[in-house]
Amino acid sequence: MRLNNKVAIITGAANGIGYAAAERFIEEGSFVVIADFNEDAGVSAAEQLGDQALFVQVDVADRESVKNLVATVIEQMGRVDILVNNAGITRDAVLTKMTEDQFQQVLDVNLTGVFHCTQEVIPHMIAAGGGKIINTSSVSGVYGNVGQTNYAATKAAIVGMTKTWAKELGRKGINVNAVAPGFTETDMVKKMPENVLAQMRSVVPLQRLGTPRDIANAYLFLASDEASYVHGHTLHVDGAIMM
Ligand code: NAI
Repeated sequence: MRLNNKVAIITGAANGIGYAAAERFIEEGSFVVIADFNEDAGVSAAEQLGDQALFVQVDVADRESVKNLVATVIEQMGRVDILVNNAGITRDAVLTKMTEDQFQQVLDVNLTGVFHCTQEVIPHMIAAGGGKIINTSSVSGVYGNVGQTNYAATKAAIVGMTKTWAKELGRKGINVNAVAPGFTETDMVKKMPENVLAQMRSVVPLQRLGTPRDIANAYLFLASDEASYVHGHTLHVDGAIMM
């Protein structure tokens, strides 16, 4: 039980990697708040995960909505030990065709959303004497990816924010790290054409895409006491797709 009696907020946990993380954290004894925009998926995720899970609807891009999330968690659970900033969206288009709206929507969720959630949670972590913040970058942010000007910009920014927060919050007992998943089998990736997926598998030395549980295990490690001297780090979990 590596997270016994911890309280974790996982954004975007109604689906994909976030859901796998919720499942994994609960297996290790944590209580998990499924903080997601999608109400139907969130309610059904909480039902499937049982008594150790609570769904709170949130739009991470909206400051008031995030304030409400954190207030609800504090009211019901009394504290937040772990925040996993996992919610993310794509609005892909090559640079010549990307609209202002596509660019801004991705920034609002993937970047401003992470800022909102972390800023609202840290006063409670500081008051409690510590905590764990885990952000989600991407192989696209580290190496770039055609059609993902907006997404790659946010995911590269996550690396910089993670390092900055590690410098600012370390003295408060808050560990801050990031995970950079490679292409992982979730709805976000399954939307891609099969020929693109086959090409993606072929360039991974492990010859497969990641599973949501592969990424969830990295979140778990960084959320656990085993990683207490890992700080400001971006852990690549990508089958070495790029080296
Ligand atoms: P997904 O699309 O399966 O799940 C994302 C979840 O975020 C959904 O439940 C959605 O409702 C929620 N969400 C979207 N906008 C939101 C908002 N404004 N407020 C609250 N929740 C919101 O995505 P997936 O694949 O599980 O991705 C999780 C994270 O991993 C994302 O940050 C993504 O960028 C990152 N990632 C994913 C990769 C992949 O190959 N699947 C690769 C690298 C990074």
